[in-house]
Amino acid sequence: MANVLLIHGGAGSDNSFTETLNRYAENSSRKVSGNPLDFVVDSVRLMEDDSSFNAGTGSVKRIDGSIQMDAAVMTPNQIGAVSAIERVKNPVMVAREVMLQTPHVMITGDGAIKFARALGFEDYDPTTERTENIWKKTVDYFNGKEVELPERYSNYYKYAKIFGFPQAKDTVGAVARVDGKFAAAVSTGGSSPMMRGRVGDSPLPGAGLYAGEKGAVVATGIGEEIIRKMMCYDIYNRIGTKPLSEIVKEKVAEFGDVLVGVIAVSKDEYASYSNSSMATGVCTWP
Ligand code: GLY
Repeated sequence: MANVLLIHGGAGSDNSFTETLNRYAENSSRKVSGNPLDFVVDSVRLMEDDSSFNAGTGSVKRIDGSIQMDAAVMTPNQIGAVSAIERVKNPVMVAREVMLQTPHVMITGDGAIKFARALGFEDYDPTTERTENIWKKTVDYFNGKEVELPERYSNYYKYAKIFGFPQAKDTVGAVARVDGKFAAAVSTGGSSPMMRGRVGDSPLPGAGLYAGEKGAVVATGIGEEIIRKMMCYDIYNRIGTKPLSEIVKEKVAEFGDVLVGVIAVSKDEYASYSNSSMATGVCTWP
């Protein structure tokens, strides 16, 4: 069965990004070889550097105006993650170093920033004009000015009602099967609006990502619900029971109207599904 690298630009991302994501997947598959971890990290790094996506540069702001990001990588039996990390360009690369260079699974907050600096990751502000404007709308909402609040969030995401104005775009992620081995990587600015210190599903193994001997899975969407439903581990456990495309559809259906999406790869299939738009890119090679 062919090798495959499958990536997504987040639940809520416009399908017009498909061409860009196909190009990123193809570029990543050319640049590196052998280890599926290299493929998923490289493709997520490209999406972190593209300010259209809510990860790395372009990450959404917290209610207090800060940017805290979560990222993780996983291969069978190995995990590395950072949560609430600030002022780095590529959280996914720091997560990989947590896996490769420490005995830990996750480093958070100030400790994650210190760890990154010790490894030479420079101080970097991921703010963009777009995310600054989204944040200003949130602040206006606090101050009682009228802004549009999408129905799906006002029903299903309580912080949207309480705190502000959400942005319907999420997390980026990648899964790969290379020479029969699997890896997953994920990176996010979080699900706006959110409090400082809030950690979503992305860095949590089983919730935001999972990789094992049978495959790899990455989730996107409203983190709190993804964690409650242990989305990625549940999908992983069902691999082999029916076609992968059916498994991901069934799991997404459990979320009703709560924004969610998923990509997955198994020994002989790959699949993606979302209850919203979700741009994906794929590259396969012999
Ligand atoms: N899925 C990303 C988050 O909720 O933080």
